[in-house]
Amino acid sequence: MAGRLARMRPNFMPAVVVIGGQWGDEGKGRIIDLIAQGASIVARYSAGNNAGHTVINDMGEFKLNVVPAGIFYREKTCIVGNGVAVDPAILLNEIETLSSRGVSVEHLFISDRCHIIMPWHPLIDLADEKLRGDAAIGTTGRGVGPCFTDKVARIGIRMGDLVDPEALRARLEFVLPYKNKVLEQLYGIPALDFDTVLAEHNALGARLLPFVRDTSIIVHDALEKGDTILLEGAQGCLLDLDAGTYEYVTSSVPSSSAGGAGIGIGIGPTVIQQVVGIYKAYMTRVGNGPMPTELLDETGRILQVEGPRPEIGTTTGRKRRTGWFDAVASRYSALCNGVTSGVLTRLDVLDNFPSIKICTAYETEDGRRLQSMPASSVVLSKVTPIYEEVEGWLAPTSVCRSWEELPENAKSYIRRIEELLGIPIDIVSVGPERDQAIIVHDVLKVKPRT
Ligand code: GDP
Ligand code: IMO
Ligand code: MG
Repeated sequence: MAGRLARMRPNFMPAVVVIGGQWGDEGKGRIIDLIAQGASIVARYSAGNNAGHTVINDMGEFKLNVVPAGIFYREKTCIVGNGVAVDPAILLNEIETLSSRGVSVEHLFISDRCHIIMPWHPLIDLADEKLRGDAAIGTTGRGVGPCFTDKVARIGIRMGDLVDPEALRARLEFVLPYKNKVLEQLYGIPALDFDTVLAEHNALGARLLPFVRDTSIIVHDALEKGDTILLEGAQGCLLDLDAGTYEYVTSSVPSSSAGGAGIGIGIGPTVIQQVVGIYKAYMTRVGNGPMPTELLDETGRILQVEGPRPEIGTTTGRKRRTGWFDAVASRYSALCNGVTSGVLTRLDVLDNFPSIKICTAYETEDGRRLQSMPASSVVLSKVTPIYEEVEGWLAPTSVCRSWEELPENAKSYIRRIEELLGIPIDIVSVGPERDQAIIVHDVLKVKPRT
């Protein structure tokens, strides 16, 4: 009862969602690592090892695909929620790498409801991309989309099955013949051997068993105690299956947007008090699909390679496409996610530009001005961005640790983004290291709605 009463206190913050506001790689891992100190649980709620979250702190540099970025705080509980698609071999490898580098995984738990990325999923992912030809999505090829497709088709295999040899055998006896027909007859891919798949997955299940729990119980108990829980998003709103630039999106169910967070961890929307939206100070995208402000010129190249951390995809090593800040797309994502608190990352990458552009509207081929995101990727691929140009600051921000220290023109740039997006920027990140941030407001504390 005490927990329930505590949840109603005005200054109390039980669950906070952190989402990417653009096309992914906004710095979610880096920001979770920065703010996780104030939470007792950090939980991933969606996607799979298509995500790549970089964290640099006093333990070193890490690339996380599935494990939540709160893992570097020894006493915090980290949860891979039911909404995450897990490739067991990749997750085990990640756990072993973390352990071997001195990161404790003692408080890491994986939901027994997670869906498993099985060997046929990456095969189908790559084959589908080939079949799509010029319309290829540019997926990460990790089998994440096909795994979620099977989840929705109700032919998935879950973590609870993987760690239970009898359940796994029974499930495979039904699913594998079905999948083998699809592989052979639709894609011309040789069938997978039942005994091999069973033996390999029994072994993987046995190694994962110590981590597997009904994680919803852990989360519900923490909420009852009045603990704060951080829900870590993957990807970004513009890659979301519903809100994003369909069909050039990712296939996570639950969605990568804030709306998916409760479902992917097993809590109701009423518990979520704050949605932190992370935005880069400019735009990037990996893979195909429309990107109105993309720069294919020297400016784009500078954004891509000349910042302190080049724009290279964390998971696949592909170069990220780059462009000026798109306030139309970013405002749309703030609205779709109910963002209450904004974070601006990689501001330092803009330090050497004498002038900087912000896209404030799109113009369609037939001369119409759009202030909102069109649903069609075809329409979006043909719009011309309308820019306003602001003066750069030509000074290093990476050394700034307070709002006052920021150059005036950098402050004006941030203020303009706040105005265009309709959200406050509460954290400004000026470098990849844990301390390279300006915290204007603690995003784990409720503030009065304005
Ligand atoms: P995520 O997927 O949203 O967690 O982001 P990624 O880790 O894939 O990509 C973000 C990249 O930007 C990583 O290389 C980070 O180390 C780096 N990064 C994060 N914040 C900053 C920042 O403020 N400045 C610079 N220069 N790099 C940053
Ligand atoms: P984080 O969490 C950037 C992109 C892929 C491709 C599309 C579909 O690090 O921000 P998929 O393999 O998911 O079916 O590919 O989505 N994509 C990402 N881009 N960051 C990510 O994750 C991404 N996860 C998927 O490049 O365009
Ligand atoms: Mg990433």
